[in-house]
Amino acid sequence: MSKLIVANWKSNPDTLAEAVKLAKASDAKNAVIAPPYPYLEKVRGVLKYASLGAQNVFWEKSGPYTGEVSLNQLKGLKVKYVIIGHSERRRLGETDELISKKVKAGLAANLKVVLCVGEDASTRRKGITASKRFIAAQLKKDLAKTNNLKLITNNLLIAYEPVWAISTSKGGRADTPKDATQMISFIKKLMTNNYKLKTKVLYGGSVTPKNAKAFLSQPEIDGALVGGASLNPRSFKKIIQIRNSL
Ligand code: PGA
Repeated sequence: MSKLIVANWKSNPDTLAEAVKLAKASDAKNAVIAPPYPYLEKVRGVLKYASLGAQNVFWEKSGPYTGEVSLNQLKGLKVKYVIIGHSERRRLGETDELISKKVKAGLAANLKVVLCVGEDASTRRKGITASKRFIAAQLKKDLAKTNNLKLITNNLLIAYEPVWAISTSKGGRADTPKDATQMISFIKKLMTNNYKLKTKVLYGGSVTPKNAKAFLSQPEIDGALVGGASLNPRSFKKIIQIRNSL
């Protein structure tokens, strides 16, 4: 099975027509397209190969939660993947406590959960060891409510996204494949030590057609979470081609 490429469109594009056009042009096997909620249904309608993803979810099934979108609603739209704990959501106030509830509920609902973890710039400046310590603590908190090993095995993916490497963050420049591999190996080792299982770990943070080969050719890196470059269908297709050629 080839490595997984996940497109995170964030709050883009502005119109449904643009979203449908982008989805058609980005459709590919072993890819996930995660558009904003209002576009999920129409985007699904044009995807022949890629799976549908959401960028967030609420943990309760239904009820008085104004503005939240539930797991049942996503499942009803045939969403297969959900991104949880993205750093842009954490920056808006989403805590590890909330993330742990979402992870637990998402796994239990049999969605594939893409849990994003990553250290910020100030932690990274302290070095790789400090960054590893940060990631270990973050993972522990985000998985604190999840103890069903079977669900973790079947449904959990982790995306290592150093916050400072995300294209829209200040100075955002991709990590080096070497350092990303080191962090990803560390995350995998944590998962083996803590849960005795192998977890797929993607890299995210300024992945572009220029650097995709360098990241995706690392055996430890199981795929990519792509933001900015997924909004340009030519760039996204190029990343898919690079993945396919490995
Ligand atoms: P980027 O975004 O590819 O634009 O850096 C990745 C992400 O935020 O998931």
